[in-house]
Amino acid sequence: DKGRYRHFMLKEIFEQPQVVNDTLEGRLVNHKIIIETLGANANKVFADTRAVQIIACGTSYHAALVAKYWIEDYLNIPCLVEIASEYRYRETAVLPNSLFITISQSGETADTLAALKKAKEQGYLGTLTVCNSPASSMVRESDFTLLTRAGTEIGVASTKAFTAQLVSLMLLMVTIGKAQGMDEAKEKSIVDALEHLPNEIQSALEQAEAIEDLSEAFAEKHHTLFLGRGQQYPIAMEAALKLKEISYIHAEAYAAGELKHGPLALIDKEMPIVVVAPKDNLLEKLKSNIEEVRSRGGQLFVFADESANIQSSDGITVFPIKSQYAITAPMVYTIPMQLLSYYVAVIKGTDVDQPRNLAKSVTVE
Ligand code: F6R
Repeated sequence: DKGRYRHFMLKEIFEQPQVVNDTLEGRLVNHKIIIETLGANANKVFADTRAVQIIACGTSYHAALVAKYWIEDYLNIPCLVEIASEYRYRETAVLPNSLFITISQSGETADTLAALKKAKEQGYLGTLTVCNSPASSMVRESDFTLLTRAGTEIGVASTKAFTAQLVSLMLLMVTIGKAQGMDEAKEKSIVDALEHLPNEIQSALEQAEAIEDLSEAFAEKHHTLFLGRGQQYPIAMEAALKLKEISYIHAEAYAAGELKHGPLALIDKEMPIVVVAPKDNLLEKLKSNIEEVRSRGGQLFVFADESANIQSSDGITVFPIKSQYAITAPMVYTIPMQLLSYYVAVIKGTDVDQPRNLAKSVTVE
């Protein structure tokens, strides 16, 4: 039932504060992260883990790419991420003491499942799935399961499942870290950020009307670029995927530092450029990337932290986002990106919940 919403996708976007609460339920105890459902053996495997390999497709792959930033930053262990359709068909080398992780909303994606079956023959320490479907093949085939609690997702374009994946991956990252002696201060700083996340997502949702107005600027365009740096680069990739999927506008994401290596040639006044600019250690570098684009006549739409000190001016429209914690900023900045693709699709009159040529669960390769 769509309730008061025009599409399931919009309903699912607005469910995200609750989805985050549900995903955290019972897992934050006295400001500590405890996941009881992984089973006793998991901690032993986590203590021995010296590398992580993550496999997924589509939106779930973008969640994996964000997790890579966290795992290498907080745990200082290598994290490799690959799309399932590549991994399953090539000769792969396994780093010693690696943990194999799949991420999937449906738990039935054919390529991801095949990659998991292959991994079981390859000498990993163990296999773990971050999955939204408790009764799925991936849950059955994996040693360990961390359930995301997004509830049933009906819109073909994944929204709330993505947010639940990111929250779950953060819980998992800390759980692996604790098995390896992560200090309490680090854990507490992550718990603080997670506890504030539902409210931060709520205030991002309050931008819906402003983003609906903004979407007019995209509906007639044929291309859009999304820029981010660091852990926001995968968020830019996810934003580009959403826009392609439901509004049929060609979109690409670039790590902002890569612009001068080619894509700057695309910039003219017909090319809208969306930038995700949270307050982090890369903000100053991102600002110079913004200037590179503006000075070449690009039309910039910058989603920036309130305190980022980027002003709207000729060629730049700024949308303030409240996100106090750098680590959870990917979840917060995802919200305006989802809303943007949604409202552009509505103007274009596409079938938002059931975009052409796509299926919710890709059980054939
Ligand atoms: C994008 C989308 C797809 C899925 C992909 C993987 O909005 O829905 O890209 O993310 O097909 O599906 P799961 O997560 O079920 O393995």
